[in-house]
Amino acid sequence: MWNRMQTFSVGSVFRTLMVTCTLLVSLRLPAEDGHRLWLRYDRIDDAALLAQYRNAVAAVVFPTPSPTLLVARNELLDDLESLLSKKLTSQTSLADNCLLAGTPSTSPIIAKLLSSQYPGLAGDGYLLHTQQTEGKHLLIIAAHSDIGVLYGVFAFLRLLQTHQPIQNLSVSSSPLTQHRILDHWDNLNRTVERGYAGASIWNWHLLPGYIDQRYIDYARANASIGVNGTVVTNVNANSLVLTPLYLQKVRALADVFRPYGIRVYLTAKFSAPVDIGGLKTADPLDPAVQQWWKDKCNEIYSLIPDFGGFLVKANSEGQPGPQTYGRTHTDGANMFADALAPHGGIVMWRAFVYDARPAATSSTSAHDMAAPDRFKQAYAEFTPFDGKFKPNVLIQVKNGPIDFQPREPFSPLFGAMSRTPLMMEFQLTQEYLGQGTHLVYEAPLFKEVLDADTYANGKGSTVARVIDGSAYHFPMRDPAQDVRLSSPLTGMAGVSNIGNERNWTNHPFGQANWYAFGRLAWDHTLSAREIADEWIRQTFSNDAAAVSTIEKIMMASREAIVNYMTPLGLHHIMGYNHHFGPGPWLDNASRADWNPVYYHRADAYGIGFDRTPAGSNALAQYQPQVRQQWLDSNTCDEKFLLWFHHVSWSHKMKDGQIFWNELCNRYQSGVDTVKWMQRQWQSLTSLIDKERFSQVSMFLGIQEKEAEWWRNACILYFQTFSRMPIPAGGGGPDQTLEYYKSLRFPYAPGTGGSL
Ligand code: GCU
Repeated sequence: MWNRMQTFSVGSVFRTLMVTCTLLVSLRLPAEDGHRLWLRYDRIDDAALLAQYRNAVAAVVFPTPSPTLLVARNELLDDLESLLSKKLTSQTSLADNCLLAGTPSTSPIIAKLLSSQYPGLAGDGYLLHTQQTEGKHLLIIAAHSDIGVLYGVFAFLRLLQTHQPIQNLSVSSSPLTQHRILDHWDNLNRTVERGYAGASIWNWHLLPGYIDQRYIDYARANASIGVNGTVVTNVNANSLVLTPLYLQKVRALADVFRPYGIRVYLTAKFSAPVDIGGLKTADPLDPAVQQWWKDKCNEIYSLIPDFGGFLVKANSEGQPGPQTYGRTHTDGANMFADALAPHGGIVMWRAFVYDARPAATSSTSAHDMAAPDRFKQAYAEFTPFDGKFKPNVLIQVKNGPIDFQPREPFSPLFGAMSRTPLMMEFQLTQEYLGQGTHLVYEAPLFKEVLDADTYANGKGSTVARVIDGSAYHFPMRDPAQDVRLSSPLTGMAGVSNIGNERNWTNHPFGQANWYAFGRLAWDHTLSAREIADEWIRQTFSNDAAAVSTIEKIMMASREAIVNYMTPLGLHHIMGYNHHFGPGPWLDNASRADWNPVYYHRADAYGIGFDRTPAGSNALAQYQPQVRQQWLDSNTCDEKFLLWFHHVSWSHKMKDGQIFWNELCNRYQSGVDTVKWMQRQWQSLTSLIDKERFSQVSMFLGIQEKEAEWWRNACILYFQTFSRMPIPAGGGGPDQTLEYYKSLRFPYAPGTGGSL
């Protein structure tokens, strides 16, 4: 980091330092409005523990020869002061019970420790270690890189905030994925596509002159969980951000983020050479177009020497791309790769593609139902190019084959591209998960996908191991065959749920999804429960009852939403455009595969999308072992049943019930869980601060109503096909189907800007 920093202008470093020093402290506000996220650092309220911690950190030795180390030291000293009510300064000589932080180049003790005891510590990983040296007890925070030290500082502070012992430490942790990136779907006019937390935090109009404190708070929060990149613009891109005026603004953000180890990326609109470059074409094989992108990259890197690269959505949902010019995804991605390679930048080329031509206009026809299965499209478009992308290209794949539904099987691409680095794309913003008002902890969803076995290289080739490169033993392949394989790119992206709401995410529990994303991108072996535990302790309280109750709520929440929205493998049955609320009856979109009826296919016989060989045969895109798991409707995991099978209304379920009854019961159980979540939350009145307690209570009230709405509307609609009675138990629909169909939400959030 320091070497890279030395290439920056003195002015830029100075500006960054000034900004950092003057604004760093203001995140600590007394009111509990959620703005402080998990970085609260309130005084340790357990007297014995406080005494123990105070004793353990009697002095600090923390040399700061770089902006990142300075940020790390300030973070440590400021937060220790709040946690321990004790002012510490950094001194030069070691003392007993001294905290020593740094890298091999700042401390011979650290140099020796890393080479002798922790030779495996990699890249930006960190070490927390205690030892006796010359009769003194030392607590060491060490790393090979400056940013690793900052990560170590945050990890150490996490131990204190979560009340862990720190007497005998031997913790080493290295990131399992290299690029851990937030994707902001933020437009230049500050609307946020699928944003439910206010306006974009990027105030483009006031940049570069005005540096909002939020930018620093944002960088700090991300660094605390290991996020090291941010794509600041929407995938539905605007070429304007590549003009000199905007690049100055991007540069200002990059300067703020740099000490926190966060690189800035931009979305590249494929047609930019035409839109802003005066060219007649954006054909990736045209030499003038290639030169235009090379010049553009030179310009960007002259302003932002550590610019990360481009994220590209091409030939998808109306976006231009190489196919517009009769070229391929490789032609397009490799053109960007060539322009970025001399500067060390990467291309994240998205696999979220489906036929650009309208599939049909009137969806209820047999023709529409026979339209190509959208599930299969990404695989069909990308697998022919496996191994043909340049070394600095990652293919960014959404977790499932369709689009961030409450539950999807893993995308078949994860098991089918052994010679191409694949990057995971999760969605933190809850477009299909209750948007800004439902409490849904997404880590169980992320883990379900990461832990799924693709069998791509034998048993145990989980999605996580495909993402981190270990499933294919990349480093063992012959580098002469393909240099990329000797040093694979790895990455995970999360579509951000951040806006300018005071508490960042609108729902206080939205913060947990941001947090969980960062933690899993760093270490996908962590469990959803562990992450919830540490987030709750830092965000709300270490009180045992509070921790266990909130944890139970969080762990139940994802299955609850699956049940009250899309149980048993239903998918994509929400309202048009804004995607708010149920709309299983919708059937007149301009494309068949935008219609809910296309996905659930309910008829007098039954319901579900047949993706077996008798149907679209999307199952063939999986490895045989996976295919086998889902092939037979009698043995298929019921959570994926309607993803792969059209079953009859009286299909026998594993618990002996007929399908229709099971479906109704699942909807009911989703509603019941939300009511249970409310009761659990109410039991915390005295344990949670007033403001957040009442916010969450109100949101749970909305969630309960909306869960009932989903249940009522879906059951009434599907009943028109099943013609079976709703089984007893639980509340029934209180309105007619016509009523639910008549509801309109023209101003639902998340659809501004380019939609
Ligand atoms: C979904 C979402 C769009 C978004 C798209 C994408 O379809 O509704 O708003 O642009 O995903 O990921 O590109």
